[in-house]
Amino acid sequence: MAEVIDGKSIAEDVVDKVKALTAELSAKGATRPGLAVVIVGEDPASQVYVASKSRTAKECGFLSLQHTLPAETTEGDLLKIIGDLNADPSIHGILVQLPLPGHIDSGKVIQAIAPEKDVDGFHFINVGKLGTGELETAFVPCTPAGSMLLIERVRGKDLSGLNAVVVGRSNIVGKPMANLLLAANCTVTIAHSRTRDLPALARTADILVAAVGRPEMVKGDWVKPGATVIDVGINRIPAPEKGEGKSRLVGDVAYGEAARVAGAITPVPGGVGPMTIAMLMANTVASAYLAAGLKRPSF
Ligand SMILES: NC(=O)c1ccc[n+]([C@@H]2O[C@H](COP(=O)([O-])OP(=O)(O)OC[C@H]3O[C@@H](n4cnc5c(N)ncnc54)[C@H](OP(=O)(O)O)[C@@H]3O)[C@@H](O)[C@H]2O)c1
Repeated sequence: MAEVIDGKSIAEDVVDKVKALTAELSAKGATRPGLAVVIVGEDPASQVYVASKSRTAKECGFLSLQHTLPAETTEGDLLKIIGDLNADPSIHGILVQLPLPGHIDSGKVIQAIAPEKDVDGFHFINVGKLGTGELETAFVPCTPAGSMLLIERVRGKDLSGLNAVVVGRSNIVGKPMANLLLAANCTVTIAHSRTRDLPALARTADILVAAVGRPEMVKGDWVKPGATVIDVGINRIPAPEKGEGKSRLVGDVAYGEAARVAGAITPVPGGVGPMTIAMLMANTVASAYLAAGLKRPSF
C-alpha cells in the first residue's frame, strides 16, 4: 500500500513556520505581515473560505483585514479599495475571493493588485515570473505551491529526470503546477479534455497530478507502480450509505484502487486541501520579509 501523504500535518508545519517567522519579524522591529481579504456578495462557499483564511491569518499573528462588500458593489468602488490597499504599508497581501459578481471584470480587478502584494499569484507579472523560472521573486498560486511541497516531502527538491503528468490546464492549478515541476527538472506533460488515451499517458508518470474536477476519474490501472499521486480535486458526491440526502468529498482519483499501486498518494480530504491556506500564509509572510528588505524565507 502507498504511503499516505498527510497534508494536514504538513500544512500545520508550514503554519508553525509562518508563526515563527512572524515573531522574528516583530523582533527585528519590522511591520508584522498584513493580509487583506476582499469578498463581494454572499456566496456561502466563498464566505466559508474567507472566514477560514482570516482565522488562520490571525492565528499566524498577522494583521488580518476583511472587506465584506455587498453584491451590488461597482467595479469602480472595488478598484478604489484595491488601490487603497496597494498604497497601505501595513498590508503585504491582498486577496480577492473569486468568483466575483457578473457585472465586475475579475481579470481587471486581479491585474489591479500590486504584483508584490499578489499573494494568490494571479497577476500577469507573477505568472510571467513563474513561466520564466524567476522563482526567487514570484508569488506562486497557493494550491500548486502546496502540492509541490507535498511532492518534495516524498521525492526531495530535485526531481531531475522524473516524468510528470498534470491532468488539467487551468490557470490556477494545472499550468502553474506544470511550471513548478518543469523548474524542478521533471519532464512534464499537461493533459486535458482533448488528450488522447489519457490512461496510457498517465501510466508514464512518476508524478501524477490530477486537477480536473471529475470525481474518481483517475483509476488504479492508470497509475504507474510506485508513482507519487497528488489529487487536487475536491468533489462532493451523494453518500446514501450515510443517510438520506448525505454527501461526502472525493478527489479526482479513485483513492482505494490507486493507493494499492502508487508509492505515495494524497487523500481527499486531508491532502492538498489544507495546503492551500497554509501557502497563502507562507506567501504573505514572504511578502512582508521582502517589503522589510529581508531575505525571502523558503518553505
Ligand atoms: N485543494 C484545493 O484547495 C483546490 C484549489 C483549487 C481547485 N481545486 C479542485 O481541483 C479541481 C480542478 O480545479 P480547476 O480550478 O483547475 O478546474 P477547471 O478550471 O475546471 O479545469 C479543469 C481541467 O480539467 C480538464 N478536464 C476536464 N475533464 C477532463 C477529462 N475528462 N479528461 C481530461 N481532462 C479533463 C479540463 O480540460 P479543458 O481545459 O480541455 O477543458 C481543464 O483543463 C476541482 O475539483 C477543484 O475543486 C482544489
